Amino acid sequence: MTPTAYIETHKDRFIAELFDLLRIPSVSADPAFSADVLRAADYLAQKLRDAGADQVEVCPTAGYPIVYGEKIIDASLPTVLMYGHYDVQPADPYELWTSPPFEPVIKDGNIYARGACDDKGQLYMHLKAFELMIQQGELPCNVKFMIEGEEEVGSDNLGIFVRQNKARLQADVIIISDTGMIANDIPSITSGLRGLSYLEVEVTGPSRDLHSGLYGGAVANPINILCKMIASLHDEHNHITIPGFYDNVEELTAEERAEMAQAPFSLEAYKQALDLSDVHGEAGYSTIERNSIRPTLDVNGIWGGYTGEGAKTVIPAKAFAKISMRLVPNQTSTEITEKFTKHFISIALPSVKVVVRPHHGGEPVVTPTNSVAYQAASKAFEQIFGKKPVPVRGGGSIPIVAMFKSELNLDTVLMGFGLDSDAIHSPNEHYGIFNFLKGIETIPYFYKYYAEMSKG
Ligand code: BES
Ligand code: MN
Ligand code: MN
Repeated sequence: MTPTAYIETHKDRFIAELFDLLRIPSVSADPAFSADVLRAADYLAQKLRDAGADQVEVCPTAGYPIVYGEKIIDASLPTVLMYGHYDVQPADPYELWTSPPFEPVIKDGNIYARGACDDKGQLYMHLKAFELMIQQGELPCNVKFMIEGEEEVGSDNLGIFVRQNKARLQADVIIISDTGMIANDIPSITSGLRGLSYLEVEVTGPSRDLHSGLYGGAVANPINILCKMIASLHDEHNHITIPGFYDNVEELTAEERAEMAQAPFSLEAYKQALDLSDVHGEAGYSTIERNSIRPTLDVNGIWGGYTGEGAKTVIPAKAFAKISMRLVPNQTSTEITEKFTKHFISIALPSVKVVVRPHHGGEPVVTPTNSVAYQAASKAFEQIFGKKPVPVRGGGSIPIVAMFKSELNLDTVLMGFGLDSDAIHSPNEHYGIFNFLKGIETIPYFYKYYAEMSKG
């Protein structure tokens, strides 16, 4: 049977199995879902065994477990290490979903569910591509699977697991499907990811909430002050004002920028898809540059005071914000967290107290486009999509990719099949059945070409 025929024969089951995974609300950020996160790990371990993997294990960590499995057919052949994550982002706000987030449905050729694209749908393509290669007797090299449950909360325990299991994880390349491509008729391969520095700030004014008539105008309102502090973090050109923030930023050459500008992109379609009358960002850079090769600072959440029904006249005691900064080569998350903290405390007025609490971080990466593995992935896309994929730098973060390089000295191929319009992390996340099945079809060709091209 050809791979295409195998997929055609089994696609309904593939989708049904993915639906079972999507029904498990494995939200890593919220302890209320911890039993479900564990259930998702067990489900994947069973599916790996069913597909033919050996040594399948749900490896405990200080947090959620890592699902491991492997198929070693010949120690002299190359080994591909597949990484994915079975945890998902919280689904709130639930009321904005057109169907419940953990009851997957198909609408207009898309699977709607939290995690449909990020990353359950994409990681499951690898299990089914593996099943296909085993069933067809076509697995051309060794494969290891490592699927974690804490990606959406910073992968802290995965870093420890990788350091403690260097021998078991020995491989020649890492393959990940947890990114996107430009469009279904414009395949692309992600050639880099931004890093992340995530923190929370707390501004304290008076020792208790106060009547805003009795005290208003005479004491610092921490929300007013926090807003002013946050507003001052960008200047009129939308440059970030933190001293030294850009010190280590890698500037691309005019040629590299010209090459980036070749990637198909329509500003009109972009604005339309997001219902924007205009885009917004750092002066001197294009939209594509702003969301990939330039660092950013964004408030992810801000709260304090009274936000309930009706009005309450109060000067709050405290105000909070969660702030993320996306980093580019050669910034580091420690450096940027320190620079932010020092600056934010220095701009605090004497009328308030300011505390900065760092959360997780991750380092930026650029993945090589001249490696055998990249060329094999490129050929696989060309085979299935009929077009050579374009390399594009991605704006999101997958912290483990930099760790794979620093701890295992392994390069990663970011072979993603999602679309920007899949609404990952948003209400109504979805994933195209086209993309799911094309992924299952493309991955075995990656293995085939990688094994062939590795022979030299
Ligand atoms: N899969 C995403 C990252 C991604 C998506 C990269 C699309 C490129 C294109 C991943 O699950 C994710 O959401 N990562 C987080 C970082 C994490 C430390 C919370 C992110 O980028 O916000
Ligand atoms: Mn992901
Ligand atoms: Mn994500």
